[in-house]
Amino acid sequence: MEKIAICPGSFDPVTNGHIDIVRRASEMFDAVIVVVMTNFAKQTHFSVKKRMEFLIKATEGMKNVRVDCYDGLLAEYAREHGANIIVKGLRAVSDFEYEFQMALTNNKLNPELETVFLTARSDYMYLSSSIVRQVAELGGDISDFVPECIIDEIVEKFRRRTEK
Ligand code: PNS
Repeated sequence: MEKIAICPGSFDPVTNGHIDIVRRASEMFDAVIVVVMTNFAKQTHFSVKKRMEFLIKATEGMKNVRVDCYDGLLAEYAREHGANIIVKGLRAVSDFEYEFQMALTNNKLNPELETVFLTARSDYMYLSSSIVRQVAELGGDISDFVPECIIDEIVEKFRRRTEK
């Protein structure tokens, strides 16, 4: 049976840390679906369309990876797509409580669904989408933080915002 994994997130925007997790998941499972979803605790800065576009560019060449979006329950999306594994990156102990709560909720809603945690590479332990946005907004260098193919667009977006 084909093992399909989901990498869900808000990806606002995708970082090198996210891409590292997606790449490692793609080496472990037959297929990986990266799904742009709604996190009710966060306000987003990039549209769903733009976040998907960034992910499609950044995962080009990963043959078993596709990008999608969904604004319902992750447990439901997994059921609809025949996926029973969620892959998430863990950066620090501070991520754990929240991720543990989501993993248990998803398993409660869909008992077929398991969550697998991959530890973030040490290079990306500190990295998050909000750090990328802050550095970009203040004119800093984000080239170590996000895939090269999307740097210019992120810089441009925040340059225009700073000039307003
Ligand atoms: O990158 P994030 O913001 O940490 O990702 C969180 C996300 C989007 C995966 C999570 O909020 C989510 O699964 N949202 C979909 C709605 C859902 O299924 N909620 C119940 C699980 S807690």
